[in-house]
Amino acid sequence: KYEKIWLVFGGITLIVFLSVIGVSAFAMGHHPPSDMTTIDPEKVKETAPFDDPGLKKIGDNEYEAVMVAQAFMFGEPLEVPKGATVHFKVTSADVVHGFSIPGTNVNMMITPGHINTITHKFDEAGEFLIICNEYCGVGHQAMSGKIEVN
Ligand code: CUA
Repeated sequence: KYEKIWLVFGGITLIVFLSVIGVSAFAMGHHPPSDMTTIDPEKVKETAPFDDPGLKKIGDNEYEAVMVAQAFMFGEPLEVPKGATVHFKVTSADVVHGFSIPGTNVNMMITPGHINTITHKFDEAGEFLIICNEYCGVGHQAMSGKIEVN
């Protein structure tokens, strides 16, 4: 007799659980968070701002660096003056890549079709490497980019 009660209780719990999942999936589908902007990875290079990657001056020693990560590169080397604040806007045209600049706190994951952003102020002159720290295929070890600060 008791077993039947627990069976019914378990059934109700399961139904409540599934409804919660269903409702949250519905809610998320209808209100995607704005930072989850998704671009079809195959159309990344035709979609602004990634159709025109590179460095753009947006203020007093302030730049926006639009980059497309793709097996196995980050695009053209960048050159900025010492003290420049760079707002990186990066997406991937294929798989998940890493985006890390050793010696700085720049370290993020680049997900295909999403606009991943991070800002860094380059106070010291030098040559900075951008390295991929997410395994992305046979060329992963060699995947790097360059930022020249002078
Ligand atoms: Cu790109 Cu590892």
